[in-house]
This record gives sequence, C-alpha cells and structure tokens, in this order.
Amino acid sequence: MTSIEVPIKKYSEAVRNEAVQLLRESCLVAFPTETVYGLGALVFSTEGVAKIFETKGRPSTNPLIVHVHNHREIEKVADLSNIRIRTLYENIAPLLGGPLTIILPRKQHLPIQINCNAPTIAVRIPNHACALDLLRHLDAPIAAPSANRSNHISPTTAQHVYEEFGAQVPLIIDGGPCEHGLESTVLSLIDEKPVILRPGTILPVQIEEILKIPITKTTPHSTCSPGQGVRHYAPERTRLYFLEKSTPLPTENTALLALFGSHLNTIDHSRFKEVHTISLDNSLNEVAHKLFDTLRKIDSLGYDAVAITKVEPIGMGAAIMDRLTRACAK
Ligand code: TXA
Ligand code: MG
Repeated sequence: MTSIEVPIKKYSEAVRNEAVQLLRESCLVAFPTETVYGLGALVFSTEGVAKIFETKGRPSTNPLIVHVHNHREIEKVADLSNIRIRTLYENIAPLLGGPLTIILPRKQHLPIQINCNAPTIAVRIPNHACALDLLRHLDAPIAAPSANRSNHISPTTAQHVYEEFGAQVPLIIDGGPCEHGLESTVLSLIDEKPVILRPGTILPVQIEEILKIPITKTTPHSTCSPGQGVRHYAPERTRLYFLEKSTPLPTENTALLALFGSHLNTIDHSRFKEVHTISLDNSLNEVAHKLFDTLRKIDSLGYDAVAITKVEPIGMGAAIMDRLTRACAK
C-alpha cells in the first residue's frame, strides 16, 4: 500500500526556500495571509498561472490578485502614468500592507491569463510575516486567489486547503489560522469615483477618511467584479438560509447558527435540532475570524439545513453579510 504524503509543512526557512524553488519551477504553493490562504504561482510563469485556473476549476474570465511585498513591486505590474490614478494610489498607500486590494491599470508585459486580458490588474501587499518573507526571497510577485475550489468556502487554515485539494498542491505552508478570516476589501481606483467591488476588513469609512473623497459602496448582490458570483461560499451538503421568525423549519434535521450570543435571547431555539453560536461576546471581528471555519464544520455534521441569524450590514457587518448572502443564495 502506498501512503499519501500530506503536503502541509510548518513555516521555516527551509520550507520557504522549498516554496521559492517550486514557484520558480512553475509549481503551485499555498501560503497563509492575514485574510485567507492563497493558492500561489509566480506571476511571470504562464504555466504556473494556468495551473491555478485548472486546479481551482476557476472560470478563465475571473482575474487573479497579484501579491507583492512593497510599493516598488506594484509599479512592476501596474501602469501609474495617469496622474489622477497615481494621486489616488499615493493617497491610499498608507492602507496598503493590509487587507486591501486595489485595481489599477495594468502593465502590458504581464501574462494575460492573470487578469483575463482586462486592461486592469488587482494588487495587494499582504500583512503576514510568512507571505512577506516568501515574496522577498522570491523577488517577484505571486498571483494568488483564495486556496479553495471555485465557489467553495475560502480556507483560513492549512488543513482547509488540504481538504480542498488533497495532494494536488505540492506544498501547503502552515502559518496558523488567518487573523481576519475574510478576504481583502477590493477597491477599484480606475474610475473618477473609487468603488468598492468587494467589502472586507478595511472599511469604506477608513478609505474615505484617507482619500478625502466619497467612494461608491456596492451592495451584497453586486456583480461589478467578475468573481463576485451570486452563489459562492455555499457548503456542499447542507442548505443555508437566513432565519425568518415565523417560517416553519424545512425538515426536523435543521440546526440554528446564531452569529451573536445575544441573538438567542429573541429566538425560540428549542425547535432546532442543535444550536451553534459563533460569538458569545457579540463581536463582529470574532464572527469574521471564525465564519468560514464554522461553515465548513457545520457542513460536516449532516444537517439538511441550517438557519442563520443576521447582523447589521454596517462596517465589518457588511463584509460578513456579503459572504453569507452568497452562501445562502440558491
Ligand atoms: O484576501 C484576499 O484577497 C485573498 C488572499 C489570498 O489574498 N485572495 C482572494 O482572491 O480573495 P480571489 O481570487 O478569491 O478573489 C479576488 C477577487 C475576485 O472577486 C476577482 O474577480 C476580483 O478580486 N478581481 C481580481 N482582479 C480584478 C480586476 N482586474 N478587476 C476587477 N476585479 C478583480
Ligand atoms: Mg475566492
């Protein structure tokens, strides 16, 4: 009998060197960031980038985010010759180096599959020691979507990545659970008025404060960004839906997922098979941090359906409701 080697390795200098080598050989490497785990390939490797799309089952129309470790690297992939866009970019700079992705005009020499031949490129500087160290030693940008099969739940641990791809990915770098747990905010700087294409941990108010101009916030069902499909993040087996007080349960085998402990005070939860709570302290950050992990666990418990409570779609609540609205979509 041949044993399958699990490709998860704790971050170390040796593992980082192995990752650099694999990326240079056009292989994929999954790595941690402060948001979710990414499935990386060297930006300038057409073969590596093609493997991302193939491995994820990602439509070729859905562009990738380019990860870099400093501003100089951004200029290698983005064309900042337009003065208006350059000024916006310089103004937003203090928020880069964190969970914010910006959309800029692209440089011509990039492999066209990265951004699906669009005139733009998405770029971000992750705020995670392992990701930054890897980027520095590679000395080139890494293209990386979230390390899950297309439309599945995003991974926030190395084990989640392994559950998605098994040994298909030759190296999964384990840097522990991701700090934020939701993907980066995506902000387009292309138009006169910047627009948020995907809500995340960096909030509109922080962006407006720093840019000193109003920006456009998209609604949970926005499709301005090709990857923001209506149905996304849905578990494989269990149907998720938002709790409505008077609606009968779809079957007896239905559980309740309360995002906040306080939600249980106003719900008759005795009718549910089981009750799960994400944040007893009613903390939005804790809900964000644990959301994807909880959705994965719930999917493994064999319920027919899970009713989920809502939070106000304000601040971090907007990013949480964006992901849950997609997870509940039919
Ligand atoms: O936090 C994150 O952003 C994670 C980590 C790994 O960095 N990455 C991530 O990548 O969430 P992905 O591929 O799962 O989501 C990227 C989103 C998609 O909705 C995609 O359509 C959008 O960014 N996007 C990428 N390039 C774009 C572009 N040029 N114009 C508009 N949207 C773009
Ligand atoms: Mg994704």
